[in-house]
Amino acid sequence: MTSPRRTRVLSDPRAVRRQVRAWRTRGDRVAFVPTMGYFHDGHLSLMRRARRAADRTVVSIFVNPTQFAPNEDFATYPRDLKRDLKLARDLGMDLCFTPSEKAMYGSRHVTEIHVQGLEDVLEGKTRPTHFSGVAIVVAKLLLIVEPDVLVLGQKDAQQAVILERMIEDLGFSVRVVRGATVREPGGLALSSRNTRLTDRQREAARVLWRALRRARDTVKQGERSAARIKNLIRREVRKESMVRLDYAAVVRADTLADLSRLEGRVLIPIAGYVGGTRLIDNVELTVPRSRR
Ligand code: PAF
Repeated sequence: MTSPRRTRVLSDPRAVRRQVRAWRTRGDRVAFVPTMGYFHDGHLSLMRRARRAADRTVVSIFVNPTQFAPNEDFATYPRDLKRDLKLARDLGMDLCFTPSEKAMYGSRHVTEIHVQGLEDVLEGKTRPTHFSGVAIVVAKLLLIVEPDVLVLGQKDAQQAVILERMIEDLGFSVRVVRGATVREPGGLALSSRNTRLTDRQREAARVLWRALRRARDTVKQGERSAARIKNLIRREVRKESMVRLDYAAVVRADTLADLSRLEGRVLIPIAGYVGGTRLIDNVELTVPRSRR
């Protein structure tokens, strides 16, 4: 029987490994949610998903410097550890792992992980070093936490595809579960960066979801041309002058390879700027093979 829940807060990787191993020795299964903190409902829903997936839950809070390029917002990335810990406690997480940069990377760290062919497309075109930073930190977190289940958000679909590939290639013994994207009432996907938007920008940003929803509905009505779906998205986003679309793509959901016709598991990812804030979103669809 599991003892009553108390949220442990640990920053030492060895203490985390010891605690998780003790749970596993007792036969408890462990689910892990890696985060950069500044929790919103999207994070909370991943933590709830973790609770459903296993007996014990671990959440990490670490703003990972290696996934930010020098010109990006590492220093100003929103942080509120006190509030995050309260939310994690309220949700009954068993362990919050809050490592320091030194604990994660020491002072001589030079090892990198590249998930080739997946890290340099879509988001990777604008953020060429981002996914190798994500891959190395998640690999290190998996080695520390040794979870049975890793919970990732569908909102960062490319990140999930890359991490799933890395997990398979490196033989990590962990099952990946994806949590659905959580949206504001107007449809904007929740993101820590949304706090940077003014009310007017927030309203404008909803066009991204409107465009994706129109694309999804058009596919449901039978459209199979990727070019026409991308054009539809571009036209829709152009209606909102405060939003600049970076890309709209139609790719295979498992390999991120470009598609000209929609068939099978398809991902439609988009990215755009509202002021200086970069936002991403996507829909994933299973498209039946056409009879033609
Ligand atoms: O999605 C995130 O918040 C981060 O990329 C992750 C997976 C926690 C790695 O730092």
